[in-house]
Amino acid sequence: MILETARVIEHRHFIIPQAEHFHLLTFLSPEIAAQVKPGQFIMLRIGTQLDPLLRRPFSIFWQEGKTISLLYKVIGKGTHLMTQWRAGQEVNILGPLGQGFTFISGSPHWLVAGGTGIAPLFFLAKQLSQKNISFQLLWGLRYRVAQELIAFLKQHLDNLTIYTEDGSLGYQGLVTEGVEHLSQQERPQVIYACGPMPMLRALYAWTKKENIPLQVSLEAHMACGVGACLGCVVETTSGYKKVCQDGPVFNAEEIKWEK
Ligand SMILES: Cc1cc2nc3c(=O)[nH]c(=O)nc-3n(C[C@H](O)[C@H](O)[C@H](O)COP(=O)(O)OP(=O)(O)OC[C@H]3O[C@@H](n4cnc5c(N)ncnc54)[C@H](O)[C@@H]3O)c2cc1C
Ligand code: FES
Repeated sequence: MILETARVIEHRHFIIPQAEHFHLLTFLSPEIAAQVKPGQFIMLRIGTQLDPLLRRPFSIFWQEGKTISLLYKVIGKGTHLMTQWRAGQEVNILGPLGQGFTFISGSPHWLVAGGTGIAPLFFLAKQLSQKNISFQLLWGLRYRVAQELIAFLKQHLDNLTIYTEDGSLGYQGLVTEGVEHLSQQERPQVIYACGPMPMLRALYAWTKKENIPLQVSLEAHMACGVGACLGCVVETTSGYKKVCQDGPVFNAEEIKWEK
């Protein structure tokens, strides 16, 4: 685990009317970039003031050379303040944290994302692509996103399929419906997923029925990010575990989904 003063080198804002807004933030962060693995996250200090006091967790979306990137949405005060960062801004980062995805041999691999859950899966997809492992990346959204963001994603990965609930981009429907549809054409060796709990719960029910291994990256409210506060625990078949330290990636079989 490294505490690094990183420098913002680029900040892109994907904002169009009647769409989900995303922000792509890239840091020069040589030490963390050298170590990070798909599924791991960092804790960002947002400001020098007391509010927001706590660091905020973000998955690594992309790593290249000495840089790391995050893809985020505005939720509250911390993420709103982040949108004001410009190139040159110095930011204190703690990471890489947590346990990432475990590679499974064989193919194809399916990556199923909901909303900002695309972040850790995009990084994983990049590594699968570098290892020549065949995969499909399915991304579910409520509404459309800016075409520039899609163009950016597709410039790196062409096997990305998008589902929107209102049909304003890609296929209309839930990403879990896309999974069932795709299963008529091929059977995945493993599924990796990150997104809202209802999506993960539905996906787990389907993979259990189909007997397909599923790894899930969970989001939890995190105060410390390093296992000290117990603020992020999740109930598993072997007792409570810390999402920040034992996860955020877990084998779905381990999680007590009925909670
Ligand atoms: C391991 C991990 C990885 C993450 N990776 C990403 C990422 O790659 N991109 C990204 O955009 N976000 C990611 N998040 C979520 C991100 O940490 C939160 O959106 C952020 O901390 C919100 O901070 P804030 O100060 O803006 O909002 P706060 O002021 O902390 O919260 C504002 C309100 O929103 C609620 N809230 C906070 N977080 C969420 C959430 N995730 N969903 C719904 N409601 C929420 C709070 O309860 C509060 O009511 C990740 C979270 C975890 C645990
Ligand atoms: S966030 Fe403190 S123990 Fe996980």
